[in-house]
Amino acid sequence: MRKWMLFSALVLALCLLLASPILSQEVPLYLDTTQSADARADDLLARMSLAQRIGQMTLIEKNSITPDEAAALFLGGILSGGGGNPSPNTPEAWAVMTAEYQLAALETPLGIPQLYGVDAVHGHNNVYGATIFPHNIGLGAADRPDLVEAIAQMTARDMLATGVNWNYAPVLAVPQDIRWGRTYEAYGADIDLVTSLGLAFMRGLQPDITQPGSVLATPKHFIGDGGTTWGTSSFGPDFIDRGDTIMDEATLRELFLSPYQAAVDAGALSIMASFSSWNGTPMHAHAYLLTDVLKGELGFSGFIVSDWAAIDLIDEDYDLAVASAINAGVDMAMVPYDADMFIDSLTRAVESGAVPQARIDDAVRRILRVKFMMGLFERPFGDDALLPLVGDDASRALAREAVAASLVLLQNDGSALPLTDDIGTIFVAGSGADDIGLQAGGWTIEWQGGEGPITTGTTILDGIQAAAPDAEIVFRGRGNFDNLLDESGAPQVADVGIVVVSEPPYAEHLGDRETLTLSGCDQNAIINTRAQSDRLIVVVLSGRPLVMPEVFEQAEAVVAAWLPGSEGAAVADVLFGGVPFTGRLPFAWPSALGVELYPVGYGLSG
Ligand code: GLC
Repeated sequence: MRKWMLFSALVLALCLLLASPILSQEVPLYLDTTQSADARADDLLARMSLAQRIGQMTLIEKNSITPDEAAALFLGGILSGGGGNPSPNTPEAWAVMTAEYQLAALETPLGIPQLYGVDAVHGHNNVYGATIFPHNIGLGAADRPDLVEAIAQMTARDMLATGVNWNYAPVLAVPQDIRWGRTYEAYGADIDLVTSLGLAFMRGLQPDITQPGSVLATPKHFIGDGGTTWGTSSFGPDFIDRGDTIMDEATLRELFLSPYQAAVDAGALSIMASFSSWNGTPMHAHAYLLTDVLKGELGFSGFIVSDWAAIDLIDEDYDLAVASAINAGVDMAMVPYDADMFIDSLTRAVESGAVPQARIDDAVRRILRVKFMMGLFERPFGDDALLPLVGDDASRALAREAVAASLVLLQNDGSALPLTDDIGTIFVAGSGADDIGLQAGGWTIEWQGGEGPITTGTTILDGIQAAAPDAEIVFRGRGNFDNLLDESGAPQVADVGIVVVSEPPYAEHLGDRETLTLSGCDQNAIINTRAQSDRLIVVVLSGRPLVMPEVFEQAEAVVAAWLPGSEGAAVADVLFGGVPFTGRLPFAWPSALGVELYPVGYGLSG
């Protein structure tokens, strides 16, 4: 009897012990890293309330919400829009800022980590001191997938240093009209070039999304962003950006679809919808293209993120706009200002049946699956150890190589180039000769970029001075050398005149221009310098080809340098023959709008 009682007591004690919260605390399946991303997503989804689910579908700009507010709403992502910088704008301050949002998110009941997104389209370009690489148009001229992949790797490194894990890049646009302010964000007019370099950039960002060192790429903007018609823009008749892509389906597919098929096949897990419309229907409300084509036909299993407040443009009735976008296939809304407004609207839509619960669950499952695939639950923070590397010599050397490879020699009469380092006198002029901001263009430190020393780096003038240390070099921005006289009292004539002309910095629709001519200041700088130079070299800093027949008439040599970024000295590496000209036109160069002077692929060697 006693033994039986003792055994029963032991069995009871064991059952009580196992039932105790201490030992029976099993790891929930969604935190079990041996489980598949799909299984983890299904398990977590089942544990989530409607509020938590809709929160995951919400992406807000960091200036619109605090970390605690974001966590309280269970937000799926935070972004820094162009110029969404901390103060001070240092890599260290970025790392603190992103960590504060993530810490708050991890303290929520289910501890779902947030994505933190930026437009790191030519380096970690919002961050002061980060290396700024050539914009995509220059990389298209270089047509070096190895360089593009390496640039993306450096960009991912700098992003992770600051706790940023999501990049709204690469742009896969195939611009049809260079009057578009986003031409420079594209690699070129050739769809195969766009595919090749867009994939190279994706490989660099996410060589293996499941492993440390990768950030989430976001091919954009699906679909037809570069095919809109001038005057159809939501900004009015003087714009083309965010306009209407007016063409039949066969043409739309032929001009724009293959880069996205390639990106999906290469593992794209986030794709951004386009502001533009197709034959009058906004892309953000286009169920056929977003769901049937992108998710169905192309097999895209990641999530579609909307563009900046693009949902609002669908309809004046916000509830109708939200329901239309989510039902069309948008999975995460870049709201980006008022989280409550979007969350309340989508909640009403689910409760009324306007948006089926199944659509919400599909969207949230897609988002969670990507977060699990990224290892975000295991690696929610950046890597502080990388902070000292932001803007390091290695990235600047890579940028210098890319700049040199991007230059296109359009004209070289009398073999004016390359220059030799024993030149006696060099006159340097033009708006872009000594200006890092004009070298970098839009999406640099601020959304629209800026002029002057907006970040660290070297100017083209710096490079000329380093390349010809013994020369007499005079820099006058407007080319006003007329007070310089020779021994006889006549105006001094330099051996070489170098005029660096430029477009002002711009981004998106603010760069839409009907006339692509040089500024009056730059035109005068060319005339003035021509008058006092034995040989005239004109270097063009621009986000697209420009209409400048007068330049080809006045100068011996003309060089397209695009938007080279922070390492402007690299231009001199090529002007002085240290590196040969190898760049080729990614877009045709016009003699007048619509009149081709030089075709895609043109470029002199030398
Ligand atoms: C912008 C752009 C898009 C960018 C987003 C976030 O309006 O259209 O390319 O990724 O907003 O900055």
